[in-house]
Amino acid sequence: MLPYQTVFFDLDGTICDSQPGIYACAVYALEKMGCPIPDDATLRRFMGPPLAESFANFCGMTEEEAIRASNFYRERYNPIGWKENRVFPRIRQLLCELKKRGAFVAVATGKPQASAEKILSYFGLTQYLDAVAGPQNGEFHISKQELIRRAMPENAGKCVMVGDTVGDVEGARVCGIDSVGVLYGYGVNEEIMASKPTHIAETTDDLCNILCPGMEKGKGWFVTLEGVDGCGKSTQAAMLKEKLEQFGYTVHRTREPGGCPLAEEVRKMLLAKEDGGMCPETEALLFAAARAQHIHQVILPKVEEGTIVLCDRFVDSSIAYQGDARGLEREWIMEINRVALTKGMPSATLYLRMSAEDAFRRRLAESEPDRIEQMGLQFQQKIEQGYEQLMQEFPQRFVAVDATKQPEEVAREAFEKLFDRMNREGIL
Ligand code: TYD
Repeated sequence: MLPYQTVFFDLDGTICDSQPGIYACAVYALEKMGCPIPDDATLRRFMGPPLAESFANFCGMTEEEAIRASNFYRERYNPIGWKENRVFPRIRQLLCELKKRGAFVAVATGKPQASAEKILSYFGLTQYLDAVAGPQNGEFHISKQELIRRAMPENAGKCVMVGDTVGDVEGARVCGIDSVGVLYGYGVNEEIMASKPTHIAETTDDLCNILCPGMEKGKGWFVTLEGVDGCGKSTQAAMLKEKLEQFGYTVHRTREPGGCPLAEEVRKMLLAKEDGGMCPETEALLFAAARAQHIHQVILPKVEEGTIVLCDRFVDSSIAYQGDARGLEREWIMEINRVALTKGMPSATLYLRMSAEDAFRRRLAESEPDRIEQMGLQFQQKIEQGYEQLMQEFPQRFVAVDATKQPEEVAREAFEKLFDRMNREGIL
């Protein structure tokens, strides 16, 4: 049985961190106005009060200037800034768990209701909520108690309001319900403590313990990225990590060959220009050796902790490169990679699909080739065929995206497909 049957959450500073977007838009507006950029402490004061008031009070603008600055702010906030929110870690899991255990879960926020709904929907959180209450069009300064009342269901049972400011705690008190003051948001901690909420949560872990005692850590997930040399994997891995973190996931990015000290040593041998006459079998065994260490030392423990592990290349690379391109038997490659196949296979493999020709052209313009990259176009074509075959063989695991598009477009498509799969698999 949950301690509270109805839980109201504040949005900014409680469910998500809106600071990156707010700072970036304030800086954009100030630059447009030709004003100096204030220090972080001043920018922090933009969190909360109405915009024009902040520009007037903290940057010494006249009323007319403050209105112009606010318009510049919106010029960036409306298309981009609101998407720069970051969901706090474990909040997605907490909302899902509350819902699963039968609680009524609502958001009561001072942010206009339409904006709040847009943000919650973008971050995939709407599915866990029963109600969202925020000021409607044209309404100003609605008190927290009024918002709580609007979201209150019939037969609410025991209720609690969770928030990072004194307004949240006092709103709860006026409504006669309990409160949790969270200290990881934007409120002044001494003030929240002084307002005497029923509970204090220093971290989102504390919050989980208060609202959902006994809640376990989330499931981890193992994702690999594959593609021919030059398909843009490193850029995509970095963008994917950033996006997943924004959505509240804990992510560990790693690569093969490498990812732990011993495997990084093996990597130096494998990619050195001077290869000492390395034969294909030795090459395949070295990749497999580095991989075994990486799986035991990094991948499995991280997934066990509930982390999303993003790995740049994995066993599919050995099959495509050492198998299909170098001509070693696939069965033997599988045999020497048994640790990967039996203990550490990825749940999903993002395949950045690009023809060997396109990738070759792109690479020529960029960096100096390493030993494997020096093998030339025909070699890359065999790798491409190898991947195409793997994609046919493992349609469940492979998530293919067209990597010839603009990097932002590829990243958007890749994230959407993976996030959809994570939702279906209950990865929170
Ligand atoms: P790297 O510089 O990491 O290239 P990329 O960014 O394309 O991954 O070098 C890794 C090289 O090693 C790359 O050419 C692919 C190759 N490779 C194999 O041949 N077999 C494998 O099992 C792995 C993991 C990589």
